[in-house]
Parts: sequence; C-alpha cells; structure tokens
Amino acid sequence: MNSKKIMISPSIIAGDLSTMGADVAGFDPGVIDLLHLDVMDGNFVPNLTFGPGFIRDLKKHTDIPLDVHLMIEKPENSLEKYIELKPEYIVIHYESTRFPARSLKLIRENGIKSGLALNPATPIEAVFDLSEYCDMILIMSVDPGFYGQSFMKNAVSRIARLKEYLISADCSDVKIQVDGGISEENIREVVFAGADVIVAGSSLFKGGDINQSALKLKKAALG
Ligand code: DX5
Ligand code: ZN
Repeated sequence: MNSKKIMISPSIIAGDLSTMGADVAGFDPGVIDLLHLDVMDGNFVPNLTFGPGFIRDLKKHTDIPLDVHLMIEKPENSLEKYIELKPEYIVIHYESTRFPARSLKLIRENGIKSGLALNPATPIEAVFDLSEYCDMILIMSVDPGFYGQSFMKNAVSRIARLKEYLISADCSDVKIQVDGGISEENIREVVFAGADVIVAGSSLFKGGDINQSALKLKKAALG
C-alpha cells in the first residue's frame, strides 16, 4: 500500500445542480476532501455554469472546503467576488489573463490558497517562473468546458515533468492538481506521476453513492 496522501475533489457540475444543496449535506468530509466548483463564463470556455451567488448558497450546506476553478476571461475583473466567499483554493487559468502573478498574489494576500491552471496545449514551462506564487498548479487533462470528456494521456508526462521541476526548484510544497476524465482506470498513473489533488466529475457522480465512489477511487489510486 502506497502511503502517499491524496485529496479527492468532486466536480459538482457532473451532478444535479438543482438538488446540490441537499446532496452536499450528505458528502462525508472524512472521504470528500474538497468540493470542486467549475465557474464557466461562456467566453473563456464555450459553456456557462454558475457564479458567486450559487457558491455562497451552496456553502451554507457543507463544511467541506471549496476549490473554485475559474474558467473565466480576465479573472482580475471579478476576483473580489470569489475572494469574499473564503474558499480554500481559487484557481485561475494561465491562458485567461495577461497578469496571472497579480491575481495569484491577491488571492494569497486574502488568506486563500492560490492555484494556476494550464490547458493541455500550454507548454508546461509557462508556469515555472510563477510557481513561487502558487500553492497549487492544475494540469488540465481535457480541454476545459465540459464534464464527461476523455482523459488526455499526455497529462501523465506533463505532471511528471512539473513534479521534477518543483523538486529541483525547491518548491515541492506546491501541490499538483489534475482535472478531466479521471476514473479508477487512470488515477493510479496520475498519482504515481506526482498528482496530489484529484478532481473527478462523471466517474464519481455516475454511481449512486458519492462517498462510496470516492473511497473506491482513493483505493484505486493507492492500493
Ligand atoms: C472541465 C472541468 C472539470 C470537469 C471534470 O472543464 O474543469 O472539472 O467537470 O469532470 P470529468 O471528471 O467528468 O471530466
Ligand atoms: Zn474543473
């Protein structure tokens, strides 16, 4: 048994958003480490989900820390609204702004952990000079916009290269998150490559019991 600790962050857009308040109340904080909230603006990505109002209401139903993934153009224009929600993490996209460092610093100054996401087409080296401003780096394993897409295998070598860099730069406390198409079939290889925080949408919500599904996913990763 591998002793590495990983975190599971269910992407709630793969569930039924109309009942999510009642649903999250049943999520076991002993198994579900974070709640992954995909904010999509219909501009940075071709899909629209929800904004800060929905997240504020959802938060009333759970003590599980929030992991806000902003897929929005120019996040600096609305970052304050997400900072007010006091999530555990706010993750912005490298491709969505000309000033990622400024936003990452603002997130941290407000006592929130900062994250920077990279689309599959963005060279991994793009984040090397920004890792000192990051508590987490998110390697997308699909093009963002929708849940239920197939895992892109090149994410595994991208995670491994990032991990190698973080160790060499003495930044090994920066967590690596992976998001897109993760299931019992591929979780082991992404964890082995260096991922610490695993987002999963359709693979967790397609079964009936999310707590059981998350436990199975953790077992598949480390067992
Ligand atoms: C994609 C989102 C993901 C997605 C994950 O744009 O950022 O979080 O909902 O869902 P699955 O695991 O089904 O790919
Ligand atoms: Zn996401």
